[in-house]
Amino acid sequence: MMVRILVCGAVSDRQIAQMRETFSVDDFRDEPVNDNPRLEAALAEATALINGGLAITPERLDRAPTLRVIATISVGYDAYPVDELSRRGILLCNTPDVLTETTADTGFALIMAAGRRVAELDRFVRQGDWKSGIGPAQFAVDIHGKTLGMIGLGRIGAAVARRGALGFGMSVLYSNASQKPELETELGARHCEMSVLLAEADYVCVTVPLVEETVHLIGAAELARMKSTAVFVNISRGKVVDEAALVAALQKGQPGAAGLDVFETEPLPADSPLIGMDNVVLLPHVGSATHETRDAMAQRAVDNVCQALSGESPISPVNLESWRR
Ligand code: DGY
Repeated sequence: MMVRILVCGAVSDRQIAQMRETFSVDDFRDEPVNDNPRLEAALAEATALINGGLAITPERLDRAPTLRVIATISVGYDAYPVDELSRRGILLCNTPDVLTETTADTGFALIMAAGRRVAELDRFVRQGDWKSGIGPAQFAVDIHGKTLGMIGLGRIGAAVARRGALGFGMSVLYSNASQKPELETELGARHCEMSVLLAEADYVCVTVPLVEETVHLIGAAELARMKSTAVFVNISRGKVVDEAALVAALQKGQPGAAGLDVFETEPLPADSPLIGMDNVVLLPHVGSATHETRDAMAQRAVDNVCQALSGESPISPVNLESWRR
């Protein structure tokens, strides 16, 4: 049987050519993923899928009887029904590590932009409001020397904390399922209850994965614990935060500002109240979106698929044991 790889994610021509050295590739990079009968027909014959946007549902899997491997071009796999894939013997792979530093850069860009009011003051200049010397109405809050509260201290969280502690002399608090003694030594980070972190931090940055337990981890009660001068940053997943509660909290000025890369509904609906709020910096889910990192993520997805199809262990499997079984 011909081994076919269906590609509907942003991989390069070079990576397509790499796969074609050994496998047959159905290239749907430039085609819509929704309502595309040609794509559904290709999926029905695919052995592997490199995915950047096709919704994977049990119904779609029913129509993909030969599918054995899915490589998502993302580290997060909350959009995938992992148990269902395992039950069907389908391997899921993701792209950890290669995006850690870039995503941490984005987190820190939001910390700095929201803390120092970069986007808001950019608008101030462009709109012609800079008519005389600036005063307290344009002042921001310091970043260096302040307290950074990390909710989640996995790979990306640790990279954000490292920037804060080593680059900006920040004190780091963190709440995380497990304690991280090595980061406590390296960064002087202090493990604490989330309620303590929320009350003490000047900058709160969320990097936990989206799982059942983290849906709306941050709601009205958590936001109410924050300082009125605090800056709230989310680079994990939108559903980790109760967005309506966040809007209400920001309208009251507690926390004072936010930097958001992720939202409960993406793309952010045009009527979202966040769009009209000056104390919020908004990004279109671009945590890992640099040329270098997106290329590295695509390469990881390609390598995961090629290795799995060649009978080797892929670099970053999500459910390897179930696949083997
Ligand atoms: C990821 O890889 O999960 C990032 O959020 C980009 O989608």
